[in-house]
Amino acid sequence: MNPKDWIDVTIEKNHYSMDHFVIPHHYEKDISSILIPHGVIMDRIKKLARLIVDDTPGPLVVCCVLKGGHQYFADLVNEIKKLCRHNGSSVQLSLEFIRVKSYTNDTQSGVKISLTDAELEEFKGKNLLIVEDIIDTGNTMVYLLERLSKIQPASIRVTSLLIKKTERSNGYVPDYVGFAIPDDFVVGYALDYNEHFRDLDHICVISDEGKQKYAV
Ligand code: HPA
Ligand code: MG
Repeated sequence: MNPKDWIDVTIEKNHYSMDHFVIPHHYEKDISSILIPHGVIMDRIKKLARLIVDDTPGPLVVCCVLKGGHQYFADLVNEIKKLCRHNGSSVQLSLEFIRVKSYTNDTQSGVKISLTDAELEEFKGKNLLIVEDIIDTGNTMVYLLERLSKIQPASIRVTSLLIKKTERSNGYVPDYVGFAIPDDFVVGYALDYNEHFRDLDHICVISDEGKQKYAV
């Protein structure tokens, strides 16, 4: 997928106001604007599902990166299943879930993966699609891909709903991207700030008040 095919929501800075859509009352003061309304997310996922199915000749292991990726994963898998019902094209799916935690200590940084070596071995020779919510620095994904490639899957592709345009990026770019977003902290659609906001449907920019309220 060429970066020109991403939807770039950084260009116009035309964020929707809080009055344009329905926001749960408990978050009204905690976000400053709506960056991507839920309906637009859902429409974009239909297209991403189409692109992925068109590129996938055989069975696919779809790996959800928890927790933030769960909503995108669920909606993407649904759209892929719909295409397989209506389109004549058919891709057999199996579903996997990986919890990934980044850590840094004084000597090195890395990621902790929730699957055991034996569970990871199951990926050998399979076609993998990793489903992630956001690529920010890219460091977590680069570590995860290094680890997975050692198991020698037949192929590994990555889709991320969001990619953040940030100077901290290590240059990693996934195969399928929904939206390029500005260098702001975003929440909603399963993306969290200290475990809050996962229950918000739209992707929103958190307000200073929200950051303070949910700081740990
Ligand atoms: N929001 C939520 N989670 C994140 C972000 C973000 O902007 N960047 C990296 N993880
Ligand atoms: Mg994530």
